[in-house]
Amino acid sequence: MSYSLNIREVTYALSGALDYVGIDDTHHGKRVAYMAAALAQELSWKQDIVDDIIFAGMLHDCGVSSTDVHTHLVNELDWDNSQVHCIRGEILLKSTNIYGKFSEYIKYHHTHWQDLSSDLNEDVKNISNLIYLVDRVDALRTQIQVSGVESIYAIQETIKKFSNKMFSPMLVEAFMTVSSKDSFWFYLETEALSEYFILWTNKGNNEPLSYEQVKEIALMFAAVVDAKSEFTSQHSLGVSVLARYLAELFDLSLERCEEVELAGLLHDLGKLKVEDAILDKPSKLNADERLKMNRHGFDSYIILRHIEGFKKIAKLASLHHETLDAKGYPYNLSAAQIPLEGRIITVSDIFQALIQDRPYRDGLSADEAFNIINTMCEDGKLDFVVVQKLKENLHKCYELATVKG
Ligand SMILES: [Fe+2]
Ligand SMILES: [Fe+2]
Ligand SMILES: [Fe+2]
Repeated sequence: MSYSLNIREVTYALSGALDYVGIDDTHHGKRVAYMAAALAQELSWKQDIVDDIIFAGMLHDCGVSSTDVHTHLVNELDWDNSQVHCIRGEILLKSTNIYGKFSEYIKYHHTHWQDLSSDLNEDVKNISNLIYLVDRVDALRTQIQVSGVESIYAIQETIKKFSNKMFSPMLVEAFMTVSSKDSFWFYLETEALSEYFILWTNKGNNEPLSYEQVKEIALMFAAVVDAKSEFTSQHSLGVSVLARYLAELFDLSLERCEEVELAGLLHDLGKLKVEDAILDKPSKLNADERLKMNRHGFDSYIILRHIEGFKKIAKLASLHHETLDAKGYPYNLSAAQIPLEGRIITVSDIFQALIQDRPYRDGLSADEAFNIINTMCEDGKLDFVVVQKLKENLHKCYELATVKG
């Protein structure tokens, strides 16, 4: 199948998942993208470069999946371990055709201006340092304890202090000019920021994308989710491969099989909003922690629903913890409200999770995992026919669910 998608809209929506890593302090990527574009415009850079900067700004922290890492990056001006997420981001972006050209900018987005090699391409130096500068402006907004005008002065003073060291003097100068306008700061507020991006997104056109191109993007975001915890590495990938296989056993149309695969890859996007400490907790979650954990299917939907052409995928992604006895979450849907594709993803999700190590137990064998699934089926939670397909092809399913990316 081929898709007709506005890549600006796709990126804007999916960058919401990256911004989830800030938990309560969301929209970091979007603020960085907005500020970087404002400086680039001040410097009269060409519009196509400004557009690339907006994409790169939204995606700049795709190498951050852990809420702990995010906290360090926000609370410390120059964190020792910051290079790890730059390299990871570079690798992730390079894995896609569409975002590959931004990978160099992200590789150097925490490198001091004075340490950037003179051999580097000028655009790479300027754009990566631009992202670095505005990224630190956003971090300083959190770090500086004074409010109002005082905080603006304090941010400007700090950035100026590092001119020619951390940041290019040309960029510092542009920042001083742009940040002297009140509107620059007003645009960082949620409503104005989304208005800015709606206008930018609407200027983009739908383009034909092959299924492989769309899947590459979904794989990249699945890798961001799967990197959140060592226990969930490859989970989204395994779910998607298994779910697609099961969908094919049902002879579903190519379109439906692809939707199942994409929803499988993206089903846990909402987990980026769950604190590391909850996800990796070795003991039972308390009621509040459970609520935070259980909302992730809903949050996956909130991200994906913005993409025109992804409505069904958004819905399917949000259903993966619904059960046929209407005791699942977040919607408590009844059997009649859960389509076959949703039932397939649920069984795939449970099976993949059972065969993986978890903080509180080792991974189960195929037979042990199947026995648990079979009991859930007998209890009226899972679809009998889907579970039968799993049973008939158990070893193949185990192999597919443990696939390595
Ligand atoms: Fe960063
Ligand atoms: Fe950042
Ligand atoms: Fe989940």
